[in-house]
Order: sequence, then structure tokens, then C-alpha cells
Amino acid sequence: MHESSFTSIDDLTDRQVMDILQLAEEYERDGSSYAGKGRGLIMGSLFLEPSTRTRGSFESAMLRLGGGVISVTDAATSSIKKGETLADTARIWSGYCDLIVLRHPWEGTAKAVSDFADVPVINAGDGGNEHPTQTLVDLFTLKKEYGKLDGLSMAICGDLRKNRAVHSLIYALLRFGVDSYLIAPRGSELPDHIRSRIRRVHGVDAQSEKVGPFASLFRADPPVGAGAAIPEQQEINLDALYVTNTESHQLTLLSRPGKRSSRSLTGNERFTLYLTRRQQERERPGEDSSAFYLRVTKDVLRRPTFKQAIVMHPLPRVDEIAREVDEDPRSRYFKQARYGVPVRQALVALITGREKWSSPSERVGVRKSALGIGGMACANEMCVSTREPASASRKFTLDQVDGVSELECRYCGKECTAAASCFRRGVHGVVYHPISKITKADIEGERELFVYATVKEAREDGLEPSASYAEPSVESIRK
Ligand code: NCD
Repeated sequence: MHESSFTSIDDLTDRQVMDILQLAEEYERDGSSYAGKGRGLIMGSLFLEPSTRTRGSFESAMLRLGGGVISVTDAATSSIKKGETLADTARIWSGYCDLIVLRHPWEGTAKAVSDFADVPVINAGDGGNEHPTQTLVDLFTLKKEYGKLDGLSMAICGDLRKNRAVHSLIYALLRFGVDSYLIAPRGSELPDHIRSRIRRVHGVDAQSEKVGPFASLFRADPPVGAGAAIPEQQEINLDALYVTNTESHQLTLLSRPGKRSSRSLTGNERFTLYLTRRQQERERPGEDSSAFYLRVTKDVLRRPTFKQAIVMHPLPRVDEIAREVDEDPRSRYFKQARYGVPVRQALVALITGREKWSSPSERVGVRKSALGIGGMACANEMCVSTREPASASRKFTLDQVDGVSELECRYCGKECTAAASCFRRGVHGVVYHPISKITKADIEGERELFVYATVKEAREDGLEPSASYAEPSVESIRK
């Protein structure tokens, strides 16, 4: 992997994020501050999924820095169509440009490509996984608005399951002390592996409850009519979001340990409504996409709670923000989209070494080491390791929470819970069962780990358990 690829928001340290925001502020304020910074550089812009803002602002950013851009905007016009692998594409483009900006429908693709590229790779969206540069734009918008991040509150509403911009944003908000209120229609809640990562990496347990007492805060048709009297709400005043009143919804409250109670949002403070689009293109055939969705209108914003709120959205919006809100002084989404240029200028200048990080010893890039694994594959059908194993050999990272080990796919981050047994290759092939029993010390120094769903499969593959191995019960294998 190129040492300074940016594939996940967690590839940057807090200080590096702040460096980018600060530099973006300077670039935005003073056009002469970045003149010529990118001279002689070429950006490879590979967008194999639709894009307006991300590609447009990345390319604009590079051109404003004085560099050049070569792009692919459709797989059908490149050799990918002829069957060229991602690995080969990465090698070839490394010879043509100084950095690769990649958007791709498979999860983990930026990581896979950066393994084979000699230049930094920036993730511009990998399927439903992450969209870390959108997060930088979102943080920049918040900072411009409030002058700080710590202590802010944000309600993130909509398709939390498949919206990659939301995933990266949540990780970042937790790091910078912003409380998040996550509101999703049933079936679109935050995925389990993201909750686990929040627990593992940030030590935060997402509390999730049926809306219950909050049910009255959600409204379905008929919407409050224009000019109608709107009752003051007592509790968390997120009542302006329209969802069906016949379904229950998830209200997840995230708050850093030791910080104020997640119920203390009274409505007298400023907070941000962050709306997201339903990710219909990521729904499987047969998945219900007609269920009720959230919507913000002028009537919603008329409620006292929202007097001081601002409205953000990564865009494109469909119906979740009514057109009439565009004229409202609280809407920020068009401004937010414009911030994409200075933020990406700053990111490009820093990643290519044309600007200096404030702490040059801190590296951008993946911090965790991954183990090569045989036997088991990632169960996520949209993961790059499933779609194109030639470019993404099975690799997993091992994490321990409260003494229990969990393996997560190194590319898409999904947990691998199917493994019942784990064999270490070596003179004495050792078997651990269940997988949650392996410790980091057990596998230290190992380059390869073989994981099988059953002991039988492992035996068939020529692996023998050690003498200390106790045959697992059928029950535990199933588990
Ligand atoms: C987002 C994306 O592509 O993930 N858009 C963007 O980059 N501004 C959000 C979306 O498409 O819903």
C-alpha cells in the first residue's frame, strides 16, 4: 500500500484532519495562498459510479492548484470493461499520475487499489462503505458555522444503513466530540458492524431504542399545514421529521462517555439536521424501497426547536428536503457543496507533499496490520475481496473487546462471525475454538491464519489440530 493513501476517515489522525480544515480555510479566504501549489502534478480521477460534486470539486481543486487531471468516468470506456483487474489498473495509473482519486461500487476498493499503486489513493466513495472526503467537507462546514466541533449536536437522518457519507461522518463526529442523534426508518438503521466498530474503536455503546416516548416527535401524513399552530415539544425536539406513524423507528443516541447525557438536547441549543438520500441503487431486488422516508419542509423548520438549527445534506437530495427550504436562511447544503473545493485542494496539497503537515512524523494511512487468511471468505457480496479476489486477497484484522476476539474484513470492515475454528499454520498447527478465544499474542509473528467454518473442512484441507485441541460440540460450531 502506498504509505499515504486515504481510504477511511480513520486513516487520518485528529491533527491531520485539523491541518486540512485549517489549510482549506486559508485557501478559501485567499486565492493567492494556493497559486501554483499543484504545478506539475497530475491527478487520476477514476469515477466508476455516478458523481457530480465529488468529481467536480476534486477536479476543480486540482486545476485551481495549477495541476492537471486525467479521468475515467465510465468503466465501459476503459479496459476494466475488457476484464482488466483493479490491481493492474492501479499499476498502470501509477505510471500516469501522481495520485489516484477513486470512486467504485464495491466496498473496500480503495484499499485494494492502494495495495498495488505506487501513488497515494484517495477514496471518493467505495460502495456503501465510506466516503471520507465528504466527511472532511462536513466537518469544515460545521467549523465554519460554529467555529468549533467539540460539544456540538447533530441529528443524522435517513438511510443510515447504506449511506457511506454517514458512516465516515459518525466515526469523525465521535472523535471530535460531536453528539449524534441517529434517526432512521425501519430497515435503514446503522449496520451492526459499524456499531461494533464504534464500540471497539471509540468505546461508545450506541443506545438504541424503539422510539416509544419519542413517537410523537415523528409525524406522518398529513403534514402540519402552513401556518398551523405548532405545539412546543417537551423533550428532544426532533419532531419535525416526517416518518410513518404506523412503524416504529430507531432513535440511536450516541454520546462520548463522560459527556453530557444524550437526553439533554432541550431545543434551546443550536444543532444540525443532516439529511441523507435513500440509497436506492444499493438496494437488492425485492428490497422494499417504497417505505415512508424522512422529509424536512418549511413547516418543520417553523417549530421552535429548529429556530437555530442549520440543515446540511451531502446531496443529491431527492424528496427529503423540500425545495421551499432552499430559500430558508438555515439551509447550508449548497454552501456545503461549494466547500468541497477548498477542502479537497487542501487534502491534495498535503497528501502530495506540496504542503506540510504540522506533525510530519505522523503518517496518513491504515494503522492496523492485517492477516492473510485462507479457508474463510468475507461474507459481504459487495466486498472487493468477494468480487475480485485477484486484487484483494482475503485479509482480516483482529480486534479484542473485553477479552473477546473479533475478526473484521480488512477491506469492507464487516465482522466475520461464521468462523467456528481457527488453525495456525506452523510446526504444531494449533486450533483455537471458537475464534473469539484467539489472542493477539497467539498469532503474533504469524503471516497467515486459516479460518474454517467447521473442523471437518479444516481437516480436509490437511490441517491437524494440536494435542490441546478439544473437539467442539456441534452446538458451538453452529454458533
Ligand atoms: C454522496 C455519495 O455519493 O455517497 N454524494 C456526494 O458525494 N456528495 C451521497 C449520496 O449519493 O446520497
